[in-house]
Amino acid sequence: MDRAYEILPMIPAETISLRVQSLAREIESDFAGCRNLLVVTVLRGAFIFAADLVRALDLEVEMEFMELSSYGDSTQSRRQVEIVKDLGTDIKGRDVLVIEDIVDTGRTLTQVLELLSARAPARLRSVALLDKPARREMPTVANWTGFEIPDEFVVGYGIDYARKGRNLPYIGTVLFTKS
Ligand code: PRP
Ligand code: MN
Ligand code: MG
Repeated sequence: MDRAYEILPMIPAETISLRVQSLAREIESDFAGCRNLLVVTVLRGAFIFAADLVRALDLEVEMEFMELSSYGDSTQSRRQVEIVKDLGTDIKGRDVLVIEDIVDTGRTLTQVLELLSARAPARLRSVALLDKPARREMPTVANWTGFEIPDEFVVGYGIDYARKGRNLPYIGTVLFTKS
């Protein structure tokens, strides 16, 4: 049932890198003086963005990971976002930054933020590398967004297409060549 596809370059690695640096400056000024920032990376798609972003941040951070899944092997969104792995620490009273790779329907980020805000953090902020507003079903927006993109399937820099392509250093768009 595999569909033939090609990957066309959309956002080059150098462009991502520059944007990661500028996001880091914005996030640093928002969290200025914060010594106990807890970074929550949403697995799996955000792992590469998070690795680059935290290395660009001139702040002391602790790292936690949460795994959710809204897609299986296909590009069809399921109705529910599944919590696969929860945080390993209490976030009450903490300054928290959630790192996501992409906000598509918004279900995943909405669920993460709802879940975390119920645990009474002092501050809860979110950053997403990509935003695809055309597909939004929830009103959620990240506090910071790297790039707004059109309604196309994207892959690379942590983002998979049918579980592959996460290690591409750039972001590409999936072009279906045959059905
Ligand atoms: C993808 C992506 C976001 C989410 C965005 O994750 O990494 O987390 O979907 O879609 P949404 O806004 O419609 O919820 P996915 O569920 O595919 O899991 P993965 O990160 O392990 O690839
Ligand atoms: Mn994800
Ligand atoms: Mg995925």
